[in-house]
Amino acid sequence: MPNYNFWNERWLNNQIGFHQSAVHESLVEFIDCFKGHKKVLVPLCGKSLDMLFLREHGLHVYGVEFSEVAIIDFIEENNLKMSQRRVGEFTVYSGENIDIYQGDFFLLPSSFFSEITACYDRASMVAFNRDERIKYAHVLCELALDLKTLLAPIFNCGEVETGPPYSVVEQEIRDLYGNFFELTKLKTKSFPLRDALKERGAMFEEEITWFFSR
Ligand SMILES: C[S@@+](CC[C@H](N)C(=O)[O-])C[C@H]1O[C@@H](n2cnc3c(N)ncnc32)[C@H](O)[C@@H]1O
Repeated sequence: MPNYNFWNERWLNNQIGFHQSAVHESLVEFIDCFKGHKKVLVPLCGKSLDMLFLREHGLHVYGVEFSEVAIIDFIEENNLKMSQRRVGEFTVYSGENIDIYQGDFFLLPSSFFSEITACYDRASMVAFNRDERIKYAHVLCELALDLKTLLAPIFNCGEVETGPPYSVVEQEIRDLYGNFFELTKLKTKSFPLRDALKERGAMFEEEITWFFSR
């Protein structure tokens, strides 16, 4: 069961240190990996500006986020016009080449993923605990059958169990996705180790940008 209260409180109290005020540098650097794709999934999208960048590059964006606050902020801060409708378990906010599904990612039906061939994932896996990451990998590998390409900058601080942010180590990525996708490490960036992570047992902090294809 996802931790709704945790994330809702983060958004309500504006404790959103994960939000970036600029487009992620790996997305800018590797945007060409989405060439030829029309529909891109942005799971756990928050109010990320990366969605607008993907749209500027000709993609129709399908965001998924369960915080209404995040979606309303996204619309207001970017002066977007979006309509609202109910689809199954979700409220869907739709604008020009962008649909944001408000609700729990794990409740998406398999029909949602039809014709979505690309995925850009920044900071979804780090929001999930180990059991949720297994479920998430199952969705991407076996439910999203049209999905061919995934670009994901993934946080890693070694074998640290607590979070969020949860650490996702290379071996876990290979174990969960290796049988379904060809996995390529595009870039590794190191960061100064934050005290809070040191206290949780981390010895280093890095972000690896992965490219999955099949
Ligand atoms: C670490 S933030 C990342 C946000 C965004 N990708 C970014 O780069 O700024 C994780 C987001 O996922 C949302 N979230 C967590 N679990 C979710 C779930 N099961 N379904 C939909 N959204 C979820 C949270 O509300 C939060 O906005």
